[in-house]
Amino acid sequence: MKLQWEDKYSVGVKLIDDQHKMMFDTINKLVDVLAEVPQKEEVNEIVKDLVEYKKFHFVTEEKYFDEFNYENSEEHKQKHKEFNIRLEGLIAEWGNDSVTLAFKLVDFLEDWLLDHLITEDQKYVECFAKHGLK
Ligand SMILES: [Fe+2]
Ligand SMILES: [Fe+2]
Repeated sequence: MKLQWEDKYSVGVKLIDDQHKMMFDTINKLVDVLAEVPQKEEVNEIVKDLVEYKKFHFVTEEKYFDEFNYENSEEHKQKHKEFNIRLEGLIAEWGNDSVTLAFKLVDFLEDWLLDHLITEDQKYVECFAKHGLK
């Protein structure tokens, strides 16, 4: 299933919405590749991009948490950390079978991202807005 952006995912900050949309696009690219005859190299390449990009995205959010003294900062950073551990665990499993695991990975990523957007990320909307970020 491809991810589709909806307004309810917006955190009201263009820079961060764009990063989330970029993550949607990358996951969707993986879905597209898996719908054809997936090549291992292609799958690995997209997953690598995704890992890099989410790192960059978490750094962006966490930088604002620190800057604004966000009250849920520690809890939210912990969620990012748990995600990293689960993602690394999945990738570590892959060995020669990255294609099979890529299906599992897509399910995990989609579930996690959509849930994280409407729960954790929504919680900082007020704080970021209060500090004039848009
Ligand atoms: Fe986020
Ligand atoms: Fe987050």
